[in-house]
Amino acid sequence: DIPNLVDIVGQNYAMGAAINQSALDAENQHSQLLTKHFNSITADNFMKMDAMQPKEGEFVWSETDRLVKFAEANDMEIRGHTLLWHSQVPNWFFTDPNDASKPATREQLLARMKTHIQTIVTRYKGKVHTWDVVNEVISDGGGLRNEASNSKWRDIIGDVDGDGDDSDYIELAFRYAREADPDAVLVINDYGMEGNGNKLNDMVKLVEKLLAKGTPIDAVGFQMHVSMYGPDVKLIREAFEKVIALGVNVQVTELDVSIYSSNSELEMPVTDELMLQQAYRYRELFDLFDELGKRGVMDSVTVWGLADDGTWLDNHPVKGRKDAPLLFDRKLKAKPAFWALVDPTTLP
Ligand code: G3I
Repeated sequence: DIPNLVDIVGQNYAMGAAINQSALDAENQHSQLLTKHFNSITADNFMKMDAMQPKEGEFVWSETDRLVKFAEANDMEIRGHTLLWHSQVPNWFFTDPNDASKPATREQLLARMKTHIQTIVTRYKGKVHTWDVVNEVISDGGGLRNEASNSKWRDIIGDVDGDGDDSDYIELAFRYAREADPDAVLVINDYGMEGNGNKLNDMVKLVEKLLAKGTPIDAVGFQMHVSMYGPDVKLIREAFEKVIALGVNVQVTELDVSIYSSNSELEMPVTDELMLQQAYRYRELFDLFDELGKRGVMDSVTVWGLADDGTWLDNHPVKGRKDAPLLFDRKLKAKPAFWALVDPTTLP
């Protein structure tokens, strides 16, 4: 019998995994991994905007209700992912209700955003512990994501209060969520920040500005889709510290450790040696998380999938190329990376 991950690493932060609906079926082997090793759950897709409200006013509750029941029965927390995103959002949000060939107005989009957020957060008040209120609002090229980087939110809503700042939709999203559940942990979530580069600096500037306006942001979520080769843990530490210095917590929301260093690499065999190298990488990352957890500034760490058989990286960015980024292998067997976390003395 192997130790429970959460009993060992989950001392100072929630230890979570992203799942699809099949893991909620108690007969399913993934379900057993989930309840044994984790105490927090994120839906990989079924709480996104297109899943929750595919048509205006028609909310789909069945899957999330099931998740809530499962979490209650197994004494687990839920991270709600996500209330607002530019991807997996139905197009009706952005079109005129009477003429789909015309864009929605600012007022229409704001009203829809408020309804979407508050209807969902109110229903799951006290049941969903943490919300990714907005996801991926920073553009890779700098500044806020806009039409050129596939988001209509900023362009349509823009500067509502006329103070020359166009991040009002983000501020309002957080205020609407807070109004609906005063106790939920509210997170701004993004990828590609852990390398401590421009994207992180844009996020820091944005959060600093929003906090100065009294926006109820509790934490910045680092997705952390990283690789075995980078970024260097020193840079990751610096990135976390910049956020912590703003007075908010950091969370790791979608961790996986790819065996590839670039999108152009061809599929590699998953050797024992490679898996051992990955184990050391997981260990150094969790040494940092543990340290921040003890300081009380990291309250949640989530891996983006239970086992290598379900990783999103098999379909992206190079379709068909198999990856092996998680703690359990394709047969759901604990990998060296798992052992590195529960018992580092197993590392040679
Ligand atoms: O369910 C359908 C299936 O019926 C259909 O036959 C098939 C054909 O393509 O698609 C299936 O849906 C796919 C879905 O995953 C379920 O597997 C979608 O095409 C695919 O786009 C979707 O990918 C998800 C992706 O977000 C979409 O943006 C991944 O599962 C999910 O892991 C990923 O998660 C994101 C986070 O939300 C945000 N951060 C990045 C992270 C990784 O991309």
